[in-house]
Amino acid sequence: MKFKVKKSDLNQVQALRLLFLHEANLQFIRNAFHERKWSDLYAFEMDGVRVGYGGISGSERSNRDTIFEFYVLPTYRKYSREFFAELIKKSAAKYIECQTNDKLLHNMLLEFATKIETQAILFSDHRTTDLKPENVEVRLRTATDKIFEHKVEPEGDYVILENDEIVATGGFLTHYNFPYADLYMEVKEDHRRKGYGSYIIQEVKKYCYLAGRVPAARCNVDNIGSRSTLLKAGMMICGYKVSALIKVEG
Ligand SMILES: CC(C)(COP(=O)(O)OP(=O)(O)OC[C@H]1O[C@@H](n2cnc3c(N)ncnc32)[C@H](O)[C@@H]1OP(=O)(O)O)[C@@H](O)C(=O)NCCC(=O)NCCS
Repeated sequence: MKFKVKKSDLNQVQALRLLFLHEANLQFIRNAFHERKWSDLYAFEMDGVRVGYGGISGSERSNRDTIFEFYVLPTYRKYSREFFAELIKKSAAKYIECQTNDKLLHNMLLEFATKIETQAILFSDHRTTDLKPENVEVRLRTATDKIFEHKVEPEGDYVILENDEIVATGGFLTHYNFPYADLYMEVKEDHRRKGYGSYIIQEVKKYCYLAGRVPAARCNVDNIGSRSTLLKAGMMICGYKVSALIKVEG
């Protein structure tokens, strides 16, 4: 049998990519990398038939040292190790970055890499909550709204008002694989720990579903406030974003 890994492009691996996303059934956080030209793609061939692909990106946009996407058709999956080893050789990648809920690449990371670092916590929606802090309302942001200075997140499309003052904003981004969207929120510093962060996430989840999208979110591992807020609003931890150093053969 002849294994071949060769440079490819999005058009050539698009059908395989759709199968990957369908099977993985998760928010793929680097989904937009290919369209934004932040990746190189390699096709895997066996006896001249295209049976999988891999994606390489880098810590800097121009770097191509990190394997972040990997798929082999189920009927050829027993050859995953061989394709992965060849992908490392061809791309000269030094790192793997993956979501632990992306089972195939995570398995490869555990086999081929060392020095695993956890970068972020990934959340999926889990349950509907009924939070309602007193004397506040949530509504869509208008063009004349005065928004407080945001230090971490972008200003959201939905706002919480307390006595006519906007004290929190939240929203969802849709440049992820359908049907997923990524939720975010920020609460004005002097109004934190009053239940507004979890309330805006609860409400943004509703708007997200109404827009035909499934809510997902992520936060840094050390952002305890964000983690607690997402859990309180009915989300659950579905995985972690991890990175690791590829072991040098020898
Ligand atoms: C994260 C953030 C949105 C939380 O907003 P908030 O209004 O304080 O959240 P809530 O009051 O709804 O709190 C929800 C839960 O988180 C807990 N929590 C919030 N901040 C916390 C902190 N800094 N440390 C520990 N727990 C915290 C609350 O105690 C509450 O849990 P409980 O009901 O079991 O006591 C706010 O701190 C913020 O805007 N941070 C900057 C922006 C940011 O990090 N956004 C998220 C990026 S992923």
